[in-house]
Amino acid sequence: METQISEVADGIYRLSTYVLDIAPPAGFTFNEFLVIGDEPLMFHAGLRKMFPINCEALSRIIPPARLRWIAFGHFEADECGAMNEWLAVAPEATPAHGRTGCMVSLNDFADRAPRVLSDGEVIDLGGGKRVRFIDTPHTPHGWDAGVLYEESTQTLLCGDLFSQLGNDRALTDRDVVGPAIAAEDMFRYSSLNPHMGATIRSLSAFAPRTLALMHGPTFTGDGAAALNALADDYDRRVLKDADALRTL
Ligand SMILES: [Fe+2]
Ligand SMILES: [Fe+2]
Repeated sequence: METQISEVADGIYRLSTYVLDIAPPAGFTFNEFLVIGDEPLMFHAGLRKMFPINCEALSRIIPPARLRWIAFGHFEADECGAMNEWLAVAPEATPAHGRTGCMVSLNDFADRAPRVLSDGEVIDLGGGKRVRFIDTPHTPHGWDAGVLYEESTQTLLCGDLFSQLGNDRALTDRDVVGPAIAAEDMFRYSSLNPHMGATIRSLSAFAPRTLALMHGPTFTGDGAAALNALADDYDRRVLKDADALRTL
């Protein structure tokens, strides 16, 4: 297993590890994103057991001790399993997450006190990079779920949204909605809820030009259109389940 590095937007690096054993023969990728500012931020800490290869990969870009922020989409092993390992090698780093996640998990789990982010709050990383935290509760899963939007590059760090199988190129301008629908059909990984479509649709207001997927390639193109199409599909799923309930 090795970790590939690609710069997917100006100053944003994707660290990608492909695992063939998950959903073979297509396999599955685990991606972390490094946002380079005066205060570098890592989005996703990655699995604890992948920490050695992720740390080695990061050290090809910056010394790990330079990290200042560790953020992620929700409290789950692939998102934050190695958070405390990163805090150990980066003494000036602070974990950052939304109010819910800090209250229910990080205030206990994190080896250093987290910065608690309100919905819409910005961390100014310096060097022109600003990341905004947006609460997306239960979307696609996790009460504490949220995404980050980097304003200067118009990059939405999507977490598990748009998860797909396979190991496509690091950057793509091809459809990412169809593969996400197929992965949802296979894994049923989302906490299907009536607000899900509206939550995803609201992210289109940022008009992202880049969608950085945790499990899949990074998409460049009309991010709003992709978000709206994904939202439509979740609305369809919710309405289908509601219809099924009515017939019980
Ligand atoms: Fe997840
Ligand atoms: Fe994930």
